[in-house]
Amino acid sequence: MVQKKRNNLKKKIFIKTFGCQMNEYDSNRILDITKKINYFPTTEKSEADCYIINTCHIREKATEKVFHDVGRVKKEYKNKKKPILIITGCVAQAEGDLILKKDRYVDAVIGPQSYQSINKIIKEIENKKDQHNITDFETIKKFDELKLVQNHNSNVSSFLTIQEGCDKFCKFCVVPYTRGPEYSRNFSEILNEADELIRNGSKEIILLGQNVNAYKDKNKRLSDIIFALEKKKDLIRIRYYTSHPKDMTKDLLDAHKECTKLMPLLHLPVQSGSDKILKSMNRKHNIKEYLKIIQILKEKNSRLKFASDFIIAYPGENENDFIKTCELMKRVKFINTYSFIFSPRPGTPASDMEIIDEKLAKKRLTTFQNIAENIKINYKKQLLNKIVKVLFENKMKKVKDKYFGRDEYQNPVIVDSKKNIIGQEKKVLIKKFSQHTIYGEIIDTGNFLAA
Ligand code: SAM
Ligand code: SF4
Ligand code: F3S
Repeated sequence: MVQKKRNNLKKKIFIKTFGCQMNEYDSNRILDITKKINYFPTTEKSEADCYIINTCHIREKATEKVFHDVGRVKKEYKNKKKPILIITGCVAQAEGDLILKKDRYVDAVIGPQSYQSINKIIKEIENKKDQHNITDFETIKKFDELKLVQNHNSNVSSFLTIQEGCDKFCKFCVVPYTRGPEYSRNFSEILNEADELIRNGSKEIILLGQNVNAYKDKNKRLSDIIFALEKKKDLIRIRYYTSHPKDMTKDLLDAHKECTKLMPLLHLPVQSGSDKILKSMNRKHNIKEYLKIIQILKEKNSRLKFASDFIIAYPGENENDFIKTCELMKRVKFINTYSFIFSPRPGTPASDMEIIDEKLAKKRLTTFQNIAENIKINYKKQLLNKIVKVLFENKMKKVKDKYFGRDEYQNPVIVDSKKNIIGQEKKVLIKKFSQHTIYGEIIDTGNFLAA
């Protein structure tokens, strides 16, 4: 009877997440926070009492997408009780007033630094249906609250935000305006949360920050967190992203040599291969410095490979600048790239610059992506018949006895297994690959060959 009454009090919350890993981390933490007021996660988006859209503002049409999504929610709930609808994330921060004004169906907008207020807001909306706009930059308060809320994430691979915001002000980027100034969390608080994740079953921790390597808490740097995690017995893997070339300090470079749990893939966004464009972007590094970092890292750890972000057709990019970007791609042979055409973001300095003809921009993007794809295919070919280490994250839903994991370079790998291998690292012989996945066989014996 008591149990039944308790269940009746339970409400359902659904979050749709867009954007970067930091938004994914935030969505999980929102689910942790709202448990305190009896809202429990559902994966059924049509049965939520509270529906959250966690948004990203990094590229074009972000605000339009939010309005489309709100339209979809309205349709979904047409013949049902209206859910509490909250827009969170970077579009909420940048366009909160507009969203509330344009659509009365939205109950609240909450910016990325204000999630500590979410329970109060939900309660207020439950009681009286006022609209709320909570978009102060209160990073300290956010993490002061979060440290008191248990992290329930039990994924094999878990995100852990250690740093927020950005002071770099690249001319194209909204992040300094949507996430606010750089803020680093307290060192021991981060390790406490890591312990919690490891106790929950996490075998891999991915340290996150908009500029994760700008982390600084008194004399502690990112490398100190990595070295501290290296000592955790039940943790197998450590990764970090996204890092800025300017903040690749010596201690961090050394960590790539000394920490065996630090995975040999570094995501180091470069954006362009042309010094002229990098200067005009206000990137604070040139190509020579970038290549030097790569060279030092390879000397420290020859197994290291690199991933990067590129912006194609940035204002002022001529054919010669573009060729330099393609040459850089061929020279470093990035095994993973994220490339997009420049998108003018409202309020950023680059939004006033003259944009490159759309047809030419698309042509350059296709040329660049073809080069990147060929490099990737050649890289994958080299993996065939090699043995790699795979950490298994989950069992595949629609096919029997198949498990999904990632190798040390984050390549997705699928194998057959009758036994449950979730959370285990296994040696896998690579047999074939498709565009997005690699397929292999678990082998119990044999020497591990560095791929
Ligand atoms: N802090 C990281 C760095 O400095 O490289 C990047 C973080 S940003 C959230 C992720 C990526 O989005 C950037 O590396 C960039 O390539 C891309 N990006 C940001 N603003 C963009 C814009 N206006 N147009 C196209 N791509 C953009
Ligand atoms: Fe954006 Fe990264 Fe530049 Fe900061 S350093 S402004 S997050 S691209
Ligand atoms: Fe997008 Fe905000 Fe992340 S703009 S990429 S969700 S920091």
